[in-house]
Amino acid sequence: MKSAGNNTHRVRTRIIGTGSGIPDRVLTNFDLEKIVDTNDEWIAQRTGIRERRLASAGESTVTFGLKAAESALEAAGLTPDDLDMIIVATQTPDMPVPSAACLLQGRLGARKARAFDVVAGCTGWVYGLVVADAFIKTNPYFNIMVVGAEVLSSRVNWEDRSTCVLFGDGAGAVIVTGADNGQGLLASCIGADGSEWESLTIVGGGSMHPPTHETVDKKLQFIQMEGNKVFKLAVPAMEEMCWQVLSDTGHRPEDVDVFIPHQANLRIMEAVIDRLGIPVEKVVVTLDKYGNTSTASIPVALDEALRSGRIKDGDLVLTAAFGGGFTWGAALLQW
Ligand code: UT7
Repeated sequence: MKSAGNNTHRVRTRIIGTGSGIPDRVLTNFDLEKIVDTNDEWIAQRTGIRERRLASAGESTVTFGLKAAESALEAAGLTPDDLDMIIVATQTPDMPVPSAACLLQGRLGARKARAFDVVAGCTGWVYGLVVADAFIKTNPYFNIMVVGAEVLSSRVNWEDRSTCVLFGDGAGAVIVTGADNGQGLLASCIGADGSEWESLTIVGGGSMHPPTHETVDKKLQFIQMEGNKVFKLAVPAMEEMCWQVLSDTGHRPEDVDVFIPHQANLRIMEAVIDRLGIPVEKVVVTLDKYGNTSTASIPVALDEALRSGRIKDGDLVLTAAFGGGFTWGAALLQW
């Protein structure tokens, strides 16, 4: 079945513009071979990553968030004055206080926009979309920007080959508003299991381990991950929530035109589409070029799929993410 759902006149949260902010600096797998004990073959086969983009000196999460935001505003035909709210999903804000969203609001000059960050691991952008959706339900004329932005390279231990090969920097942004033409967000789900928090952490720099010489000497400021554990949690979580948003709307996997999973590992994506029965041609992959950009991965992939003409009006677009926390989320959109 391929339809806009039972009630086409209901107000839905519709994406009206997208944009990306990608760093210029490229770090290939071959460059990494010179830094740690790794090789292109291992990284490409185990992850699907060939290169990633990294921030240069002086660039931060908001640098890329701003680029993505300006591009999304242009695509939507809006100005910063039109924004009612800015939600930034990030795990690497420019600073603990203020939020990345407030810094972005100030840089954009979006004076009437409320602004706050969402922290939900790599699932943050999906959480942000769900929060925006809740506001659109009561304020259908709001224009809300949902950004996923990261400079994960600032939290990567470049001596730890098990993590440093995985991550990249960048940002993606979307602008949503209410629409009653049948297009928009059909269903979403988000979830968390805090008992699995230890599988992916940055324990240093918070109130439990404030930055001191000792915490820095112990390298607590860096990402620590039990990759295998995250992998095993991710695949069933992704599968289950995809089934949930599909069954909530009376759809089947074969109705999906474009699948945009969180870009963490090609083998995770393959395992998920194998379980769901979604053909590989329907999957958007940017992981090879950008690595795992955490909260930015889905909005960047969405922006590229739209700009390249891969997503057309009427398409059913499925997204799903997972991340540290442990968190997960999925969204089904009628384009
Ligand atoms: O956004 C959410 C964040 N995280 C994720 O999505 C991560 C999910 N997990 C993964 O993607 C995978 O678990 C990894 C890519 C992180 C690791 O792949 P794996 O197949 O689970 O490898 P492994 O950790 O079991 O390690 C296998 C071997 C080990 O060597 P031994 O013990 O078999 O001799 C590692 O030491 O590969 C070794 N290894 C490496 N070798 C070359 C680990 N990292 C590297 C490396 N280069 N970069």
